[in-house]
Amino acid sequence: MGLIHETDYGTPASTSAKTVTLTIDGKPVTVPEGTSLMRAAMEAGVQVPKLCATDSVDAFGSCRLCLVEIEGRPGTPASCTTPAAEGLKVSTQTERLKQIRRGVMELYISDHPLDCLTCAANGDCELQDMAGAVGLREVRYGYEGENHLVAAKDESNPYFTYDPSKCIVCSRCVRACEEVQGTFALTIEGRGFDSRVSPGMHESFLGSECVSCGACVQACPTATLTEKSVIEIGQPEHSVVTTCAYCGVGCSFKAEMRGNEVVRMVPYKDGKANHGHSCVKGRFAWGYTTHRDRILKPMIRAKIGDPWREVSWDEAIAYTASEFKRIQAQYGKDSVGGITSSRCTNEETYLVQKLVRAGFGNNNVDTCARVCHSPTGYGLRETFGTSAGTQDFDSVMDADVVLVIGANPTDAHPVFASQMKKRLRAGAKLIVVDPRRIDLVRTPHIEAAHHLQLRPGTNVAVMTAIAHVVVTEGMADEDFIRERCDWDEFQDWAAFVAEPRHSPEAVAEITGVPAETLRAAARLYATGGNAAIYYGLGVTEHSQGTTTVIAMANLAMATGNIGRRGVGVNPLRGQNNVQGSCDMGSFPHEFTGYRHVATDAVREMFEAFWKVPLDAEPGLRIPNMLDAAVEGSFKALYIQGEDIAQSDPDTQHVVAGLEAMECVVVQDLFLNETANFAHVFLPGSTFLEKDGTFTNAERRLGRVRKVMPSRSGMADWEITMALSNAVGFPMDYAHPSEIMDEIAALTPTFSGVSFDKLDRLGSVQWPCNAAAPEGTPIMHVNGFVRGKGHFVLTEYIATDERTGPRFPLLLTTGRILSQYNVGAQTRRTGNTAWHPEDLLEIHPHDAEQRGIRDHDWVRLQSRSGSTSLRAKLTERVAPGVVYTTFHHPETQANVVTTEYSDWATNCPDYKVTAVQVAPSNGPTEWQAHYEDLSEQNRHIAEAAE
Ligand code: SF4
Ligand code: SF4
Ligand code: SF4
Ligand code: FES
Repeated sequence: MGLIHETDYGTPASTSAKTVTLTIDGKPVTVPEGTSLMRAAMEAGVQVPKLCATDSVDAFGSCRLCLVEIEGRPGTPASCTTPAAEGLKVSTQTERLKQIRRGVMELYISDHPLDCLTCAANGDCELQDMAGAVGLREVRYGYEGENHLVAAKDESNPYFTYDPSKCIVCSRCVRACEEVQGTFALTIEGRGFDSRVSPGMHESFLGSECVSCGACVQACPTATLTEKSVIEIGQPEHSVVTTCAYCGVGCSFKAEMRGNEVVRMVPYKDGKANHGHSCVKGRFAWGYTTHRDRILKPMIRAKIGDPWREVSWDEAIAYTASEFKRIQAQYGKDSVGGITSSRCTNEETYLVQKLVRAGFGNNNVDTCARVCHSPTGYGLRETFGTSAGTQDFDSVMDADVVLVIGANPTDAHPVFASQMKKRLRAGAKLIVVDPRRIDLVRTPHIEAAHHLQLRPGTNVAVMTAIAHVVVTEGMADEDFIRERCDWDEFQDWAAFVAEPRHSPEAVAEITGVPAETLRAAARLYATGGNAAIYYGLGVTEHSQGTTTVIAMANLAMATGNIGRRGVGVNPLRGQNNVQGSCDMGSFPHEFTGYRHVATDAVREMFEAFWKVPLDAEPGLRIPNMLDAAVEGSFKALYIQGEDIAQSDPDTQHVVAGLEAMECVVVQDLFLNETANFAHVFLPGSTFLEKDGTFTNAERRLGRVRKVMPSRSGMADWEITMALSNAVGFPMDYAHPSEIMDEIAALTPTFSGVSFDKLDRLGSVQWPCNAAAPEGTPIMHVNGFVRGKGHFVLTEYIATDERTGPRFPLLLTTGRILSQYNVGAQTRRTGNTAWHPEDLLEIHPHDAEQRGIRDHDWVRLQSRSGSTSLRAKLTERVAPGVVYTTFHHPETQANVVTTEYSDWATNCPDYKVTAVQVAPSNGPTEWQAHYEDLSEQNRHIAEAAE
């Protein structure tokens, strides 16, 4: 197994349908019109020397190395900037060209350190390759003249260095930052000999706008921008393609390895979700795999508070199984349950729900998607018939209007955000619906046409008011509705939204959005061409989360924006496999593929396959399990890869539930918050240590491939299998591919999925079955999955969470680019350089009223609890609204969130909490206590090493 080399065609592919035929060095080649001569030559198998061109960015034509001769044309044009044309006869290797190229290379090399043997890029340097390719053997100018060889390095970024002495000023990095990433952090400063690459105005990389996506490092042809891990470890020897385990974009990466050590993660050009791009998390933040805090040996203890005792895997599994059996014998079969993880693979998630349903004999299984995207499942199924987003990511390139609501893609889904920004720079219009001025509202070369800065909790009122404008101003797409939807239901819905109480003017007071802005946004969405909706947790984590999802689906149907490229309703899923964990039957009422446990035919099929009778009654959801634990009827919980003590709302209630149980099993990488209440700790494996699949936000199944042995000795699916066998329900899989075969056999939407097919195609989007053997990029093309599209009335009901004299501000929460969820992984990487603590964003006006200055400690208090953190004064939030992230356990924003939740799915109302903010002296008592606990856990991890 060697390194995977991807061809660099020099310039991006042309998408033209028209082709031209030409000859290059006598070889005929046919390419799409608009293809560069350089790329056409590559297609013909001829490699033209190049330095400033690479196929991730548009050609620039500065290095003059790629010159060619064209019969009948004067001069030596650059092949990277000259388009192929019908009948051209191109020569790439004449004596004249060779001489010019050698001259060009000679100039570059005369100003370049000749330390190839000790350079980190030795063997992976295009300058070195080109010197060889043009046959450069000597440099006539000597090396003594004025040069850049002593220029100082910038090592401020935690992951890569910038060594200007090696820079050839090809500007590939600058173009990558602009075109691929869309951040515009780099410029070429100075002119002629003095020109150099600069992040910002004389800033360091770390201090600049740079978001550390790595696109410039990827594009750099020399060792100027180099991963520190390559400098430390050396060049990789082999690579394996796998899928990022952070967010729901699901980027493909080549894990480049030396032995069992990761040298770097390189975004894979053939990855259909990311096309060779990455963000700081997937590209660089994988070091947690080898972090000293990882627990690698199983541990048990009789009661919480006792010291942990390290045991063998056999003992840990036997003990856990005996506890579950004892508890079920003593308290009944329904006294135990399990929680699946949206971080683990599909195959692992499937096994946990199978263990619960078949091994424990009840349906008490739930997933953390309960606390994020359960309203998506419910709302989209009600209206369209399928619990998933409608488009692939590439579809955004055909959108004319992009409506982003309750999502912050540049922070939470950065690679998709880069693609979206590319489309917006090319002219698509943007509507942002968000209480906070997210980066997208105004970012280099992009400005939202409308920012609807609504009051948290009023999404339904805003979406229904948009529908009001669509209907009352005659902008509904009647042809589409008559053909694709239930016409009578549409009329009922149209009459409902047309009621004067839903007009923008009537709701302006409640929503805080001026009526004219709302009307203008509605007109743009309905008449601006292809309109696509992208949304996130700012939609779902509300007491009316499901209603907002339905309102968006109604709007898309009413305007005909569904069923083709460039349109649709798209959830931006937070965690890598949150779509997959829902698909795999993690909810208490559903088997795989969203089929109800009470449906006899489905249940009987599972019973026949698993050879065990199954319960027809839906089981308990997470909040109900905790309630039942407090009441005394629920006693044991198997939790795979989930930290409910930190990520679920109303922490004190979660803790009370956990404390009341007799056996809590935590299977995770680190001693997380929930492990403080656990009796068994089973060490989990990272995505680098196991095989399987993840399903991203566009329903795309990507392969996760093992690149190193599991440090704990067992992959998570092996642990669940061992536990199932020990409780008496046999499971026997030699490899996760066999688990996928079982899923495919039992699930109509997955019947065409297999590891072989994934290896062959790279990835597939479900439904993948006989009707769509290579998967389904766009849903509902010729009709809705449920038949006729279903319009549902969306009555706005204000959340019970109200501001008042005691709690006059509204708190809302979100993510930041460099950190991930509760931070268990990212806090154990160099990413802490960007976000060492959670901050409370507060409008200067509200801060002044309270005597709060920037960076002061403040106490954030709700009726549920209080926490302390530092304040950041900013006009990104409107007066009356405060905002924080939830990445640091010592802040624990969920201590203040309440028990309110979505009416349909119990998804917590994380995004609206009435709070008060006051100056404080520092951390609260429980925060200090938390610090002590963390310290103890650190000692346990160290002692176990
Ligand atoms: S790492 Fe990304 S954001 Fe930073 S300078 Fe390079 S391309 Fe731009
Ligand atoms: S840093 Fe690299 S990519 Fe950027 S101009 Fe210099 S050599 Fe080219
Ligand atoms: S965008 Fe998401 S999937 Fe892609 S590299 Fe970043 S964290 Fe990973
Ligand atoms: S590669 Fe064409 S001019 Fe540099």
